[in-house]
Amino acid sequence: MKITFTLNGKRVTAEKEPGRLLLEYLRAEELHSVKYGCGHGECGSCAVLINDKAYNACLILMHTLGGKRVETLESFGGHQSLTALQEVFLDEGAIQCGYCTPGMLVSLEALSRGSKPLTEDSIREALAGNLCRCTGYVKPVVAARKLKSANQGEHYIP
Ligand code: FES
Ligand code: FES
Repeated sequence: MKITFTLNGKRVTAEKEPGRLLLEYLRAEELHSVKYGCGHGECGSCAVLINDKAYNACLILMHTLGGKRVETLESFGGHQSLTALQEVFLDEGAIQCGYCTPGMLVSLEALSRGSKPLTEDSIREALAGNLCRCTGYVKPVVAARKLKSANQGEHYIP
């Protein structure tokens, strides 16, 4: 049996192997922005978008993906074309080893696609499932707030 879904804008078909996790599949597809951290839904380093919402790929069974739209960071930002959010993460030094960063960017992308207004609270809530052992959380929040301010033409006061 096979399942068909959309991965980073392309229609793909995969074997419906019982128990196979989306995280294993994506790593095998060389989508290396999706990181293996804890493996049980605690750290957010494997976050991906499924139908515009953030999910931990280590908790998603492949057989549940039929007809869905899966996106990894590779589909909206990379070496050749950084997103505005990636730019402010760099400018603000919101990255050290970078292991948690793709997951944070995915969580913030989900927030920006949703209906919630971008506020400090909603940014913190969006990042609540993303653990970082290096930079901490202040700079990623500052970066996301700076982007919000720039987008809305506000003056950002740290
Ligand atoms: S590896 Fe998926 S949440 Fe940690
Ligand atoms: S920057 Fe290293 S884990 Fe977050």
